[in-house]
Amino acid sequence: MSSEPIEKHPIPDGFANAHITPESYRRLYDESISDPDGFWGREGKRLDWITPYTKVKNTDFTFGDVSIKWFEDGELNVAANCVDRHLATRADQTAIIFEPDDPKAEAQHITYAQLSENVNRLANVLKDLGVKKGDRVVIYLPMIPEAAYAMLACARLGAIHSIVFAGFSPDALASRVIDCGAKLVITADTAPRGGRRTGLKSNADIALAQTGPEVKCLVVRHTGDDVAWNDDRDIDMKALMAKASTDCPPEPMNAEDTLFILYTSGSTGKPKGVVHTTGGYLVFAAITHQYVFDYHDGDVFWCTADVGWVTGHSYIIYGPLANGATTLMFEGVPTWPDAGRFWDVCDKHKVTQFYTAPTAIRALMGKGPEFVDGHDLSSLRLLGSVGEPINPEAWNWYNEHVGKGRCPIVDTWWQTETGGHLITPLPGAIETKAGSATLPFFGVKPEVLEPETAKVVAGNPAEGVLCIADSWPGQMRTVWGDHQRFMETYFQQYPGYYFTGDGCRRDEDGYYWITGRVDDVINVSGHRMGTAEVESALVAHDKVAEAAVVGYPHSLKGQGIYAYVTLMNGIEPTEELRSELEKWVRNEIGPIAKPDLIQWAPGMPKTRSGKIMRRILRKIAENDYGSLGDISTLAEPEVVDDLIANRMNRG
Ligand code: WT7
Repeated sequence: MSSEPIEKHPIPDGFANAHITPESYRRLYDESISDPDGFWGREGKRLDWITPYTKVKNTDFTFGDVSIKWFEDGELNVAANCVDRHLATRADQTAIIFEPDDPKAEAQHITYAQLSENVNRLANVLKDLGVKKGDRVVIYLPMIPEAAYAMLACARLGAIHSIVFAGFSPDALASRVIDCGAKLVITADTAPRGGRRTGLKSNADIALAQTGPEVKCLVVRHTGDDVAWNDDRDIDMKALMAKASTDCPPEPMNAEDTLFILYTSGSTGKPKGVVHTTGGYLVFAAITHQYVFDYHDGDVFWCTADVGWVTGHSYIIYGPLANGATTLMFEGVPTWPDAGRFWDVCDKHKVTQFYTAPTAIRALMGKGPEFVDGHDLSSLRLLGSVGEPINPEAWNWYNEHVGKGRCPIVDTWWQTETGGHLITPLPGAIETKAGSATLPFFGVKPEVLEPETAKVVAGNPAEGVLCIADSWPGQMRTVWGDHQRFMETYFQQYPGYYFTGDGCRRDEDGYYWITGRVDDVINVSGHRMGTAEVESALVAHDKVAEAAVVGYPHSLKGQGIYAYVTLMNGIEPTEELRSELEKWVRNEIGPIAKPDLIQWAPGMPKTRSGKIMRRILRKIAENDYGSLGDISTLAEPEVVDDLIANRMNRG
């Protein structure tokens, strides 16, 4: 990083009446840290409680005893908070705008009254199928309103949903269904995206063949495409909804009952089921949605994420609907029919807050500003970014061409585990710097630690690993079925802290700059991928002896996937085998896991004890082999010369 001072962007005109001002940010932040019970005790009242809580925070980060409870004696229902309580005042207000993949197809405006009707009907359908409080339901759907109905219908009954991103393969779907013990999978016939169709039902058929006959399949006939049908297992969702009653009483849930499980990649092993509970999660999703995006009545909020990721959970569904907002669901992709689609949708629906990922901005930037310029973007008040560090070039393009220099950009740093934003600008309170997530949200106490010694780096500037010193209501509670793994992953290495897995810098102004993962997790187009997962997919192929996967800088995706592959004795490395392996990984995990570069590695750089030295592989993949550091401890230092000579990324 250069030491040139980075320009601060002042708070734009029009944010003088924002929910949070510079003065209230400082005052409330201080209160939230010194008196979390007072601050969150008050904020918890933004929800309707069936039984009001008398306790607010009860959390312990001690390794071995980690326990996180918020509002622990309160009872509420999340669906009642996202739907029912708005009916008195907002029955005819649009809750969800659905913009289909095909720009010529008509958009739907679903009012709160219609949302209520659909959620109640579907909850009754689920109930009739035997779904009860605490049961798990896997949702494998495209970005259609039925995904929202399904989430909220589960929440209404107290069933736990686990959404599997529709881009994941049948194997990935099956392993999640099995891990969480779901009794039902909700899917659709086919999913249109960018004018093409993915067979979701056919994927579910393959997955369900692996899970056993007790798992039922509820199918949304969305496109009407022909699909195979198993009468013993498959159920037509819309047909049953049409006959179901529109009244299904909400189940009272304890604040610490599980709302959902969402699988995410870590540095080792299989993806883990991140558990979020009802009360604290919803309070945190709602407050961050309101303050970070400065949401006001009448706004039209658009988060372009997929509901298969946590961003979609918190900022398409739960946060906005808890706030009685109008939220837009988009089924399509940014570049089809052309690179103007996002701006076309913003213009058409008069979007006021637009929230997307740097990878999308870079892709659109590459197509040229002419795709933005033809659209009327005067409705936009605020822009957001999430998923990976945003490079200043993309930030400036977003600011200039989309925001026309008028809209603050909130670069929100958070994780599946955090439930909502932890470090982020507040548009009326915090001046921004291109590429910095700026300052902590209320109740969040970041610390920079020395990676080796676990000592807190005090003062500014500081550099090290990013940890959080105390709990916030949206924090994950455990790993589904494996509390030990939860404690080991997040609380063991830096005792007393939640370890984020990210590195960071804090500058002279106390602003945080996330520098990326310090573990074996890579971030491909804002999607999190464990290198170990891709490796185990590769070695599952019978021609592969060994595989090592690292990330490397990629101009569009942020990071690309670089795989070093050692083939079995006697197997010839060919172009056909390369594409076979690419296809293999797509099938094992999903298209997002396909290696961008595969290098044939006759040998891996290993220590004498046999450990692969990933540091060296990372440097070669980064095309930065001039600074490999000490390789004298390698068992066979000469393999490094071969790897350098045959490196794939010469960019
Ligand atoms: C990882 C979490 C949280 C929703 C999307 C991703 C990276 C996320 C930012 C940002 C720099 C970011 C981090 C984090 N990340 N947002 N604004 N600036 N890095 O959720 O899949 O759980 O990934 O994404 O590395 O640890 P996720």
